Amino acid sequence: MREPQKFWNRLAPRYARMPVRDQDAYREKLRRTRMHLGPQASVLEAGCGTGSTALALADAAGHVLATDFSGKMIAIAEKKRREAGAANVEFRTAWWDELSGSYDAVLAMNVFHVLPHAEPAVGHLASLVKPGGVLVSSTTCVADNSVFARRLAPVFAAVGVFPQISIFSRAQYEAMLARAGLEIIDSWHPRRLAAWFDVARKPLPPGQPADQPAPDQPA
Ligand SMILES: C[S@@+](CC[C@H](N)C(=O)[O-])C[C@H]1O[C@@H](n2cnc3c(N)ncnc32)[C@H](O)[C@@H]1O
Repeated sequence: MREPQKFWNRLAPRYARMPVRDQDAYREKLRRTRMHLGPQASVLEAGCGTGSTALALADAAGHVLATDFSGKMIAIAEKKRREAGAANVEFRTAWWDELSGSYDAVLAMNVFHVLPHAEPAVGHLASLVKPGGVLVSSTTCVADNSVFARRLAPVFAAVGVFPQISIFSRAQYEAMLARAGLEIIDSWHPRRLAAWFDVARKPLPPGQPADQPAPDQPA
C-alpha cells in the first residue's frame, strides 16, 4: 500500500472523533453547496473522509457517490450511513484518479491541498462535471499563510507526521480552476488562514440556453 493511504488509514478513527473546528463556517459551506443541488442531482465526492458532508447533503440530492482512497475512512462512513438510513448515498473506496462518470456536482472538500500534486486532481475532477454543473471545493491556500506554515509543511511530510501536501496561493488555485475550464461563481473565505470555499461552474456549450438541461441530463 502506498504511503499516503497508510497515513489516512491510521488517522481514520481519530479523524472520525475530531469535532469540526468552525461549525458556523461548515454550516455555511453546506448551505452554499445545497443551492447548487436538487432532488435529481447526481453528486460525486472525492476524498470524503468519514462521510459527514455526503450524509449532510443526502436530502438535497438524488444520489451521492462518496469516495476516498482510505478503506478505514470508508468503513466508518458506511457505518454512519447505515445508522442514518441514507439510502441514496453510496460510499466506495477509490483514488481520485480512478473516478469516472459525469455528475451535476463534484465535491472536493479539504482535499486538493493534501495531495502531492493538486493540479492534475483539479483537472480530472473538473472533467467529471457535466456542462452547467459545478465543482465545489474547500481548499487551504498554504502559500498565502505564514512563512512558518509554509516551511513546516515539508518538514512534517519528511518525518511522516503529515503527507506531502501541495503549496499554492489563492491566485494559483483560481488559475488551476480556470485552466480546468471552470468559472468561479461563488467564493467565500471565512477568515484569515481558513480554507477557501469555491463553487466553480463548467460552462454550457455555446448556443445552449442556460435553462435547458445538458444533453446527457435527464429531461
Ligand atoms: C483532510 S481529509 C478531508 C476529509 C473530508 N472531505 C472533510 O472535509 O472532512 C482528506 C481526505 O482525502 C483523502 N485522500 C487523500 N489522498 C487521496 C487520493 N489520492 N485519492 C482519494 N482520496 C484521498 C484522505 O483519505 C482523507 O480522507
